[in-house]
Amino acid sequence: MASYLELDGISKKYGDKAILRKLNAAFDEGDLVAIVGPSGVGKTTLLRIIDRLEEPDSGEVSFRGEPYSRLSAKAVQKRIGMVFQNPVVFNASVFNNVAYSLRFRGVASEELKNRVLSILRLLKLDSLSERSALTLSGGEAQRVSLARAMVYSPELLLLDEPTANLDPHNVSIIEDALMECNRENRTTTIIVTHNIFQAKRIAKKVAFLLDGELIDYSAVEEFFSSPKDPRTTSFIKGDMVY
Ligand SMILES: Nc1ncnc2c1ncn2[C@@H]1O[C@H](COP(=O)(O)OP(=O)(O)OP(=O)(O)O)[C@@H](O)[C@H]1O
Ligand SMILES: [Mg+2]
Repeated sequence: MASYLELDGISKKYGDKAILRKLNAAFDEGDLVAIVGPSGVGKTTLLRIIDRLEEPDSGEVSFRGEPYSRLSAKAVQKRIGMVFQNPVVFNASVFNNVAYSLRFRGVASEELKNRVLSILRLLKLDSLSERSALTLSGGEAQRVSLARAMVYSPELLLLDEPTANLDPHNVSIIEDALMECNRENRTTTIIVTHNIFQAKRIAKKVAFLLDGELIDYSAVEEFFSSPKDPRTTSFIKGDMVY
């Protein structure tokens, strides 16, 4: 049986520079995978290909057995929640920022209200519900971005360094929410992070992107205790120069 999300021979070049080289990977339903790797190796590029914001030069992504070439970008994006490194909020209350993605999907008002309030509670934003999102701190705004992506229960949640610029308090609220969402709703989650400690804290599996491939991809305990590739050992030890 095909995996939930499958990447088959994905290649991507910018100019003459090969970023991804026939990358293969399979992600299981309900998994929580951290993709780690040095700056500039193509982590964001890979997430953007999965979210269909970018097309690979060759190779195919399949989601629940359906190849992307047979689906429109919009159809794929409607099923995926994506959170970028910098918060994306618009000029409306916190409640309406989060409600937007449900209104867009035609969810009825009573259910909409319940779902928004429940996700605001999860991200400890309930007391800010009526505030203008433009007045929020960076950490609060990033929690709103995450709430917007989570509220419609996407089939796949993609996060690109969602806590890179945040203080420990905001990081811990976001990490707890991601783990709870994965545990309670079995939301399949892929998080890109520079931070191997974050990968260790929250992920079930870790994938190491280097030289255009996932050179190591294993259960979190195994990744850290018995890495398969010497380059992983060097990365974990902080010896890798980049
Ligand atoms: N649209 C583009 N045009 C040209 N080059 C690009 C483009 N997007 C990315 N690149 C280059 O591709 C490489 C990989 O970029 P990417 O943003 O995927 O790396 P990353 O692993 O996410 O890095 P970081 O950890 O710093 O965020 C970089 O060298 C980047 O400059
Ligand atoms: Mg990046």
